[in-house]
Amino acid sequence: MDYKNLSPKDRIILALDVDTIEEARALVKELKNYIGIFKVGLQLFTSVGPEIFKIIKDEGAEVYFDGKFHDIPSTVSKASSNLIKHGVTLFNLNIQGSSKMITTTVKQAKETAKKLGVEDELKILGVTLLTSFGQRTLTEELGVNQNIDDYVIKLAEIAKHTELNGVVATAADAQKIRKICGDDFIIVCPAVRPTWSIVNDQVRVVTPSQAILAGCDYIVIGRPITQAKNKIEAAEMIIAEIEDSMTNHIL
Ligand code: C5P
Repeated sequence: MDYKNLSPKDRIILALDVDTIEEARALVKELKNYIGIFKVGLQLFTSVGPEIFKIIKDEGAEVYFDGKFHDIPSTVSKASSNLIKHGVTLFNLNIQGSSKMITTTVKQAKETAKKLGVEDELKILGVTLLTSFGQRTLTEELGVNQNIDDYVIKLAEIAKHTELNGVVATAADAQKIRKICGDDFIIVCPAVRPTWSIVNDQVRVVTPSQAILAGCDYIVIGRPITQAKNKIEAAEMIIAEIEDSMTNHIL
């Protein structure tokens, strides 16, 4: 992917963390000219089901399913194929589910996408380590005696070797991941907060500009836009910030 050619708008993934189809549809309708991709996560999906995918696509918008699959290879590969049958070609798996889980899924997903003629659109991402994890959780709770930064890089390497298209990772890890995994590898950065917004429950936040300058291709952002008084203005401010980082600095 030539990520230099992505427009600022297309680099924004909006988290549709609401409970109803009506709220989700209203957000997509209002923001589709300012946002590239709309993210359906567990909250919305468990409330309204797969119907939401069609609703977003009917608005002419792109879908990203953030289900962070983590199960035995057979279950994850079948669930992934079902997603593709629902028209979802961008989704993620938890890399900690192991390379066997990932390779089985990538193989079956490619076959399903090919049958449906959407092979070129298929992008499967790996979730490295949730930002809610710290060194203490990793080592004391899970018994992983590895430095957390090295552990994230190891997970990104697994993603690369198992032919995932990219990873979800923090901006702090993006530069290293880009170096190891190459220019074509997609890096999606969550926990993004513009300086003018409220941090909410996120930790280790970065600004849109910090994320882009660190080499991330996409940013995931929810409440700074969805809870803003003027959502379009909030999205426009983020677009302007991304544009500024892209034009004033060589990526
Ligand atoms: O509202 P906010 O901008 O905090 O939304 C963040 C979204 O990104 C949520 O949907 C959350 O599930 C997701 N996410 C995250 N941190 C990660 C991975 C995903 O906040 N490390």
